Amino acid sequence: MLIKIPPASASRESDVTPESIYLSRRSFFAAAGGVAAALALPRVSSADVSPYADVEPAQAPAWFADKLKSARWQAVTAGNESITPYKDATHYNNFYEFGPDKGDPARLAGSFKAEPWTVMVDGEVGKPGRYAIEDLFKEQQLEERIYRLRCVEAWSMVIPWLGFSLGDVLKRFEPTANARYVRFETLVDHEQMKGQSSSFSLIDWPYIEGLRMDEAMHPLTILAVGMYGRVLPGQNGAPLRLVVPWKYGFKSIKSIVRITLTAEQPKNTWQELAPDEYGFYANVNPAVDHPRWTQAHERRLPSSLFSPNVMPTRLFNGYDEVATLYSDLDLRTNY
Ligand code: MTE
Repeated sequence: MLIKIPPASASRESDVTPESIYLSRRSFFAAAGGVAAALALPRVSSADVSPYADVEPAQAPAWFADKLKSARWQAVTAGNESITPYKDATHYNNFYEFGPDKGDPARLAGSFKAEPWTVMVDGEVGKPGRYAIEDLFKEQQLEERIYRLRCVEAWSMVIPWLGFSLGDVLKRFEPTANARYVRFETLVDHEQMKGQSSSFSLIDWPYIEGLRMDEAMHPLTILAVGMYGRVLPGQNGAPLRLVVPWKYGFKSIKSIVRITLTAEQPKNTWQELAPDEYGFYANVNPAVDHPRWTQAHERRLPSSLFSPNVMPTRLFNGYDEVATLYSDLDLRTNY
């Protein structure tokens, strides 16, 4: 984000969704009684059959395939906003561990080995330990959540994630009374993630992110393990990433290997690199500009010169229900 400003033509890689996915989504929405005005919880309707039934199953670990059988699918999307084509969501990525260009992750993360995978849970918890990914979610049902994803670079997408409530995961580890923040850490693997060895990279690895405890416990916050009815591809943060839909995309840390509950506010990677540009909160806010990108509007992908698809940005990315978390906070100074 520090290094690259996307050119106006940046969505030229965009393509249409494979027709099978597009059609199944359309008929699914129609069958489910149309769309809702916002992506608020609780859901008005859900279903127990995958809307992606006619999609070739991708190679997925056994635990994921198992969870998929009993997944709860979301029947609503963001008003009349349509889901971003799979091709764009998986070929226009920010994942600096694989390089700074939007196409690097798709090109280089294809063979990323995300199995087996363990996550260290430590800090202010009653049950610290290293857990296999399947054990983290043992008692939870896989859920689809269709969320807007808004990057601070002023592009946006609408993604159907598959994941689990982060709050429910955290409760299992028994947070202590001192737990006020959650710190997340991405894998460091110089062999697989060549961007981590690049002398051009300014990032001090591992990539770090953090949330306040109430943000982490909010029902909108999820740990995603899949998207578009499939297991998460390497370029989107396999096997496990954070999704916080009312915050800029850089908060959605990928390929998580450690979750630490802390008393102190953690410093995130971008804040560490450029504190005047990136803060801890990173709530989507059209009234607070980034020094290099106005935040008043966003370009919904796919977009092109002839069809730029620019729309006004909404405070908290349209997720008004989180406003109460910040009633005592000056959002201009706490950017
Ligand atoms: N997580 C890690 N570990 N490394 C990264 O470079 N980039 C962030 C975030 N998570 C990033 C990361 C940024 S800047 C954005 S906008 C989103 O991932 C992009 O997610 P996507 O590629 O799935 O669209």
